[in-house]
Amino acid sequence: MSLFDDRRFAPEDRPPPPVPQRPTPAKMREAVQGCRACDLWEGATQAVMGEGARHAPLMLVGEQPGDREDIEGHPFVGPAGKVLDRGLEQAGIDHDRVYITNVVKHFRYRARGKRRIHQKPDRWQVSACLPWLEAEIAMVHPDALVCLGATAAQALLGSQVRIGRDRGRPMPSELAEHVTVTAHPSSILRAEDDRDRQEAMAQLVADLRNVAAWLSAR
Ligand code: URA
Repeated sequence: MSLFDDRRFAPEDRPPPPVPQRPTPAKMREAVQGCRACDLWEGATQAVMGEGARHAPLMLVGEQPGDREDIEGHPFVGPAGKVLDRGLEQAGIDHDRVYITNVVKHFRYRARGKRRIHQKPDRWQVSACLPWLEAEIAMVHPDALVCLGATAAQALLGSQVRIGRDRGRPMPSELAEHVTVTAHPSSILRAEDDRDRQEAMAQLVADLRNVAAWLSAR
């Protein structure tokens, strides 16, 4: 397995993530709550492990849980998750065939009054968390894997990846037979106006349809 891994940035005094030797979804969900491999557990309500069919043909990888996900303990259940659900539905991809996860399992945010504002994870935090994703990929062994947004794409495929340039086309990777990148659903929520939003959604759906077509042709 060749996850892009840059441990140069990780402080050396952190314990390794307690990934179970023989991962099952239940064991992983429990073990991740004890993870202290980076500092993000300190501010988070809980760690959020990926979910979905144990041997799903398609794995979707986002960045990190958001505010809702942190509270509810499930991936992609907040506003970005609603966009993703619509994208999957429009692309004709059944939720039963998907395993959804993130590269980082704890929510990173900055407190502003009562609000918690999303912050991108640092590279060392991404790096420290990667063994969880590595275990998820080995457990699910998906045929196709889609990175949602730059954090996932660069963590898994290298820092040279650009969503605008590389989206939708197969990327060289050993993580799965078919690996692609697309925009993060939250970028659709940030679109400036309705026209941009519709266009961004149409692109996401087109990228997901291509993956669906690849899956059904095999
Ligand atoms: N954004 C992500 O990348 N993942 C989630 O689970 C929610 C929002």
